[in-house]
Amino acid sequence: MGLYQRLQPLLFKVDPEKIHHFSQQALKAFRALPFSDDVLLRFCSYADESLAQEVCGMRFYNPIGLAAGFDKDAHNVKALSALGFGYLELGTITKIPQSGNPKPRLFRHENEQSLQNAMGFNNLGSVALAKTLEPLTPFAIPLGVNIGKNKEITGDDALLNYQNALEDVLGVGDYYTFNLSSPNTPNLRDLQNEKFVESLFKMARKKTKKPLFLKIAPDMEADVALSVCHKAIDHGASGIIATNTTTDTSLIANPKQGGISGAALREKSKELFAVLGKELHNKTALISVGGIFDAHDAYERIRLGASLLQVYTGLVYAGPSLCQNLNRELAALLKNDGFGNIAEAVGADFR
Ligand SMILES: Cc1cc2nc3c(=O)[nH]c(=O)nc-3n(C[C@H](O)[C@H](O)[C@H](O)COP(=O)(O)O)c2cc1C
Repeated sequence: MGLYQRLQPLLFKVDPEKIHHFSQQALKAFRALPFSDDVLLRFCSYADESLAQEVCGMRFYNPIGLAAGFDKDAHNVKALSALGFGYLELGTITKIPQSGNPKPRLFRHENEQSLQNAMGFNNLGSVALAKTLEPLTPFAIPLGVNIGKNKEITGDDALLNYQNALEDVLGVGDYYTFNLSSPNTPNLRDLQNEKFVESLFKMARKKTKKPLFLKIAPDMEADVALSVCHKAIDHGASGIIATNTTTDTSLIANPKQGGISGAALREKSKELFAVLGKELHNKTALISVGGIFDAHDAYERIRLGASLLQVYTGLVYAGPSLCQNLNRELAALLKNDGFGNIAEAVGADFR
């Protein structure tokens, strides 16, 4: 049993949001120690040529990314990259800083290896994010910026709200994700319609040539999700990120508030991803996220069409050795099936 697993019962006694901030601070402090990078490299990183690939013009040394929401304001980019991620998605940020929903707003469901959150885009805003990232740009691994809508902005003002936030971060970040899928901003998911998505990507394509992604909810009907994704791609999206958390509270025994992530989300997220993968993996870049805890989960999504993956809840339950284990075992799975490189395995189930 690793150190993190031994500490977990203790850590899980503390309020989840408090421990989230504490562990980020602890990681930062650890990195200030001499030789810390050597230790992190040894215990967290894993590099193998079979895992390296180019996606949308960006170079990834491995396919495991940190999902949005973990480091909303990009306060821990260096330390998180030292945990062995191939890329980080920062945010969600909004144009106007927000404090988010009242606490408590993050809950553990240990029996189900899941989390539930109703954070509500607590963040310091797009201008602050740009200031934080500027000195780090260009960074060693790709950095994505996930953009959301302010809670107070409604109706026709939504497009301009996304545009204003995007404009603030155009000089930083290697790609941008439009988040229309958080369940914790009232009516946000209503924007997952063809008309809004068309105007969003038309607007964004006038502003930047960098890769643009759409992040969707797992609770969409598959045919609706497909047509919305097609619309996004037709109007300039470079790829789709599927999925955000689910509002399906039947998946856990004692639901609290907000979207569910982790093992309870796994099947639902994978099911929708499989539909998207079948239809889209040859047409666009696909990123799968939702309940990925081990290399088998990761490999399954790759075979279903994912070029890249993201994790959040898996990191909370498995700890800082997650990336190394995922990448090491993924390289072995690829080799075992005769793939020289991950790109060859993308969508293999449909051939
Ligand atoms: C506490 C928490 C906060 C999150 N915040 C965001 C966010 O700000 N933006 C976003 O796009 N997704 C957010 N997510 C969703 C994750 O990025 C991811 O899509 C989801 O958790 C499924 O992945 P997982 O099962 O690996 O956690 C959040 C998830 C959690 C658990």
